[in-house]
Amino acid sequence: MNRSTKTRYVIFQILVEIFKKNRNFERVFGEKIAEDNFNQDEISFINNVCLNTMRRNVHCKKILNKFIKKKLKTNELILLSSAITQIVYLNIKPYAVVNETVNVSKKINVFPGFINAILKNIVKNINDVKKTKINLKDFPNWFIDEIKKTKNIDHSLFIETFYKQPSLHLVFKSEKNLNDFKEINIKSSSKSAFVETQKKIIDVDNFNKGEWWVQDFSSMAPLAINNKIKNYKILDMCAAPGGKAFQVLTDNDVTLNDINKKKISQLKENLSRLGFNPKIKNLNALDIDEKNIYDIVLVDSPCSSIGTIRKHPEILFRSKKPNFKNLNSIQRNLLQKSSKMVKNKGKIIYMVCSFFHSESVKIVENFLEKNRNFSIKKYSIDKNLLNISNLISKEGYFLTIPTKYKDNYIDGFFSVELIRND
Ligand SMILES: C[S@@+](CC[C@H](N)C(=O)[O-])C[C@H]1O[C@@H](n2cnc3c(N)ncnc32)[C@H](O)[C@@H]1O
Repeated sequence: MNRSTKTRYVIFQILVEIFKKNRNFERVFGEKIAEDNFNQDEISFINNVCLNTMRRNVHCKKILNKFIKKKLKTNELILLSSAITQIVYLNIKPYAVVNETVNVSKKINVFPGFINAILKNIVKNINDVKKTKINLKDFPNWFIDEIKKTKNIDHSLFIETFYKQPSLHLVFKSEKNLNDFKEINIKSSSKSAFVETQKKIIDVDNFNKGEWWVQDFSSMAPLAINNKIKNYKILDMCAAPGGKAFQVLTDNDVTLNDINKKKISQLKENLSRLGFNPKIKNLNALDIDEKNIYDIVLVDSPCSSIGTIRKHPEILFRSKKPNFKNLNSIQRNLLQKSSKMVKNKGKIIYMVCSFFHSESVKIVENFLEKNRNFSIKKYSIDKNLLNISNLISKEGYFLTIPTKYKDNYIDGFFSVELIRND
């Protein structure tokens, strides 16, 4: 197999593994790249085509439906989607893409004549194909159901931007660290900025000095809305890889916990680079000793992660929907557990990188019904710190879909502060 066919073959293998086995892109990508001697250009190419095929899969399905009437087999669907992405959205020369895709089809028992004919027809109609617009009904049924349950969300904004390349957003330990930072940036607050760079993260200015970490603007905002989280005893129940904890570590006594051993190692690496040395637990948060009582408990719960769709496009690409039943049960249990470990007048901060009603507002409403001694503390915005009043609902929730802020892309996120009043 020549190098060019080999890279396309690996792209196909990675995408099939994610689609069929519900796996995470980063892990599958790492494994497949390690199996061969790919050079840096090939690795970047594979990464780029895989990510964009997943990002554009709703568009690709719509295009394919126009050209093919029969139901496609998984191998055909994935091979064709990756070829369409390269031709239509990555502007790679059609001749090369068609040739290599046909070569791969011979390896995977897909009829080469069929692939050749469909792709040539798409290339012939390329101007029309490039104008393909998608709308809500083109998304998977589970997504449409979840969106319909989610009120106060303008889903057209999501549809316009969910497939774009994510922006890079850094959070700094101090204002001075941001002011000393040399890369071109747009400040999003006195301690955070959007950065445009082609460099690898480890080569960005002051990485080794541990003066900043990567964290999306929307997941940073809830703990940066006001400057009041100081001198508290805090438990972060689900802490890895660490963004929220890093925000509060400088000024508070924080205990970090996470159930996942691998993620704890990653968390420790991050903490060591940033020069933090807090207490760490590696427990199922539901088993944490309730004798310990905190001023603030952070519950940054596992969720569908739909808010991070630009960074994790596999969510809408996989053949299976997220297991909402299981996720909602974990979310309810973690929130209930946190109520046992927060002192009177203390607060729980419940967060998810999702905007779906079932993982956000519904979990909170259910909790408040059962726990009459808790109430929502509305976020009060200090406009000098963050000008985001439009992201706070009348009930006091912080809620955003993946959208734009200061001309950069931000993730979807939900957060609420719950005060204990016994
Ligand atoms: C959304 S992530 C947390 C992100 C983190 N707070 C940050 O800012 O980087 C959710 C984390 O919850 C952890 N987790 C899942 N179930 C858990 C449980 N029962 N107890 C503790 N941690 C859990 C996962 O391993 C995962 O690292």
